[in-house]
Amino acid sequence: MATMVSEETGAPVHMDVEDGIAIIRLDQPGKPVNVISADLVTAMDDILRRLEEGEADASVRAAVILSEKKGTWIAGADIEQFKEFRTPADAEAASRAGQRLLDRLENLRVPVVAAIDGVALGGGLEVALACTYRIASDSPKTRLGLPEVNLGIVPGAGGTQRLPRLIGVRAALDLMLTGKQLDGRRARGAGIVDEVVPVAILPAVARQVANDLAEGRKEPRGAARRRSPQWMENLPGMRQLIFSKARQGVMSKTKGLYPAPLRLLEVVEKGLDRDLAEGLELEARAFGELAVTPEARSLVHLFFATTAAKNDPALGETAKPKKVDRIAVVGAGFMGAGIAAASAESGIRVRLKDVKPEAAAKGLKTARDTLIKRAKRKKARGFEITALTDRVEATTEYTGFHSADVVVEAVFEDVSLKQTVIRDVEAKIGAGTVLGSNTSTIPISTLAEAASRPENVIGLHFFSPVEKMPLLEIITHPGTAGWVTATSHAFGKQIGKTPIIVNDAPGFYANRILSPYMAEAALLLEEGVRMEEIDAAMTGWGYPVGPITLYDEVGLDVAQKAGKILAAAFADRMRPSSVLDRMVADGRQGRKNGRGFFTYDEDGKKGTPDESVYAVIGSPAAKTLPRAEIQERLGLMMVNEALRTLEEGVLRSARDGDVGAVLGIGFPPFRGGPFWYVDQTGAAAVLERMRALEARHGPRFAPAALLVERAASGERFFPDES
Ligand code: CAA
Repeated sequence: MATMVSEETGAPVHMDVEDGIAIIRLDQPGKPVNVISADLVTAMDDILRRLEEGEADASVRAAVILSEKKGTWIAGADIEQFKEFRTPADAEAASRAGQRLLDRLENLRVPVVAAIDGVALGGGLEVALACTYRIASDSPKTRLGLPEVNLGIVPGAGGTQRLPRLIGVRAALDLMLTGKQLDGRRARGAGIVDEVVPVAILPAVARQVANDLAEGRKEPRGAARRRSPQWMENLPGMRQLIFSKARQGVMSKTKGLYPAPLRLLEVVEKGLDRDLAEGLELEARAFGELAVTPEARSLVHLFFATTAAKNDPALGETAKPKKVDRIAVVGAGFMGAGIAAASAESGIRVRLKDVKPEAAAKGLKTARDTLIKRAKRKKARGFEITALTDRVEATTEYTGFHSADVVVEAVFEDVSLKQTVIRDVEAKIGAGTVLGSNTSTIPISTLAEAASRPENVIGLHFFSPVEKMPLLEIITHPGTAGWVTATSHAFGKQIGKTPIIVNDAPGFYANRILSPYMAEAALLLEEGVRMEEIDAAMTGWGYPVGPITLYDEVGLDVAQKAGKILAAAFADRMRPSSVLDRMVADGRQGRKNGRGFFTYDEDGKKGTPDESVYAVIGSPAAKTLPRAEIQERLGLMMVNEALRTLEEGVLRSARDGDVGAVLGIGFPPFRGGPFWYVDQTGAAAVLERMRALEARHGPRFAPAALLVERAASGERFFPDES
């Protein structure tokens, strides 16, 4: 007969005891995911105490931890609570509390099985690491990882110490430095979990394993690993080599601008030479110090800004989204193929159309190659890859378009061509299909003019390469129907993008703020500053690539065209530089034709800056500017333009502006986005710099009215977060 000890409802943790196995169920009331917040810690503390003292049931021989929330086991520490940390001591105390709890879990008198279905991230994985045995479900929602560096911190509940001891230093560093998330199968391959089983049998298997562990019939694989640590890593000099390589990798990726990964290396390296308790001390101190840094605060701001953009509650009020199972893409070029691949990867069937069979076939191959590459990286099996690639079909006709929920046109950037395509597509689709355009510059209202159902037309601006870039800029024109916007937003989210919705205006948001920044870089070239100095200044400010490299990547002809459109709209401050005209006239289009600001070898590999460029653009390349001056001219130019878009109503919120700048064009994440940057620097201080730039370089640096207003009022863009 089973012994049952049931708990009252409403608590975040419940425990039932059945045949000597304590089943601990996590389900935080009123929250979409389980997070380690104060109430959960208190409840776990109580349950551990009862298990320690044998109070719940002296016959308890083992325990299982399950989650009742679909899609989440534990999503980590409650990031909301990070905002409350005022001093390093506050954060350190929170870390120590978590560590103490997990120490008790690890040393419980009975074995504990973590039965993981859904995400186990950050503190969630740390809970699992303190368990005796870990079983993951094979659900695609099950993902394990320690993503703390992405929030500017290090794992703070034992992860920096337990993970390297369990799976080896190299593998643990790879996970912790990248924030990479592994599904159940890959987590088993890495040695993080002991078994992977189908979701339906997870609870039963966990119970069985708990019983076997209690009876001594089973031993966790992790324990076996701990006794024979990765022998290669213990060879003389090997560990130093691993850490020095990791440090080099971090420095080349972050330019030393992010303190967390460097601190992580220190904590792991020192911790390995000490016992667990001493390692945990180092970890808690690092967590405390990092959690209150400006970098961590900016990254936490971005986490919430991004989540809010994805879950935009304002949309629910407009209209319900339609379900998207099938899409069609017109134009099988690089962007079209990328949109097709990203959609197919998320389970959507795709018709990819181009005029010529060769173009359609090429696009199909590009999309399928992308899918195969990404699936292999995730260690997908052959039949899974076939199912993925089968989702994309190519065509030269509009066949199959009638059943598409969304059509995206991604043809050449030309108004009349795009309008013709819109007319042609409209003839083949019903009134319930969204008609999206992937234009980066043409006003959506101009495209909608060609449509007989303009309310179905919307801008779906993807960024290149589509499969990697996380932003989808959705552009509505005044007549766009609510359900079209809602469906576009849901579609973006479905394919793993973070959507922001902006109003129709030249350059929309992302290209609008990028354009004066790029133009300023071209002006610096005209003034005689060397290409590599401009790029180094901006990567040193935190951009992933410098503007000169970006010109080559985007294509000089494309940049020239976009520059002219924006210059026509904002003639007072975005005059097109002669640099691009001269480069394009010299046959230079950047990476795509192997001739740009940089040299390229036969395989298209980027070389050094091409010295002959200076003669082409008629610049002496003889001027040296302090790096800070270059950074200020370019950086503030973008920030100021972002503020203008909010004041003009292109952006709906400062939050969207931060998300769009960081995810769309690489604005340095540790600066939190242009609006967060103004809040942190102080609007008055930014205004002072803008005025100085305006006095020196002219009206293109005239401060946005919104900046002047915020400097006077002292009002912040994010009053609740600062
Ligand atoms: N803390 C607080 N809130 C969280 C949270 C967390 N760790 N994780 C998710 N949420 C909230 C989101 O803000 C969102 O809130 P709203 O409904 O109010 O918008 C809600 O939960 C749902 O989240 P998503 O919309 O993102 O849902 P999803 O299904 O797309 O993704 C997720 C779920 C994968 C868990 C994703 O939210 C995520 O990646 N969360 C962060 C995970 C993380 O970074 N964990 C580490 C935390 S740091 C830590 O744990 C330190 C330590 O060592 C102790």
